[in-house]
Amino acid sequence: MKKVAIIYGSSTGVTADIADRIRGEMYEAAPTVIDVANVGSSAVFEEYDVLILGTSTWGSGDLQDDWQNKISLLSNANLSGKTVAFFGIGDSSTFSETFVAGMGTLYDTVKGKGVVLVGSVATAGYSYDNSLAEVAGELVGVAIDEANEPDQTETRIKSWISSYKNRIA
Ligand SMILES: Cc1cc2nc3c(=O)[nH]c(=O)nc-3n(C[C@H](O)[C@H](O)[C@H](O)COP(=O)(O)O)c2cc1C
Repeated sequence: MKKVAIIYGSSTGVTADIADRIRGEMYEAAPTVIDVANVGSSAVFEEYDVLILGTSTWGSGDLQDDWQNKISLLSNANLSGKTVAFFGIGDSSTFSETFVAGMGTLYDTVKGKGVVLVGSVATAGYSYDNSLAEVAGELVGVAIDEANEPDQTETRIKSWISSYKNRIA
């Protein structure tokens, strides 16, 4: 069985909660859930076959603080051959110009490092003006907006996992 990790950064607990809900949806793959604040070396990222990386966005399009502190560990890791997917938590109303930008920063950090990227999501169904996480007309991962659209979270997580289940587990 593939070794799967859900690695997240969360300042007020929202992304931590979503990480746990994603784990619940993919319990068969028995993913390990890791707070990036506790990651001490690049070896942690190298230990898994599949990395599901999640972040919220702060400031004006900034990566979550713990991720920001550890981003060099991710960019220095040997990720060759790994499967990587992303989830991003943000506020599409108040921060419509920088919606889930942090997810785009994680994507930019790992793309071109020999990884297999999975988990892109259509922008239809979302309402925002601009996002660093939008690449070639799609979001690079699933975007979750607990501030404005909490009623959609369950469907978004379930349909994302079911679409990509055989790629990430
Ligand atoms: C000061 C502040 C700045 C924020 N900036 C952004 C932003 O630029 N883009 C975005 O999508 N969400 C933004 N958000 C929304 C947060 O990402 C959202 O509240 C998220 O649920 C926080 O998750 P966490 O508790 O896991 O860190 C911001 C929130 C605050 C309070």
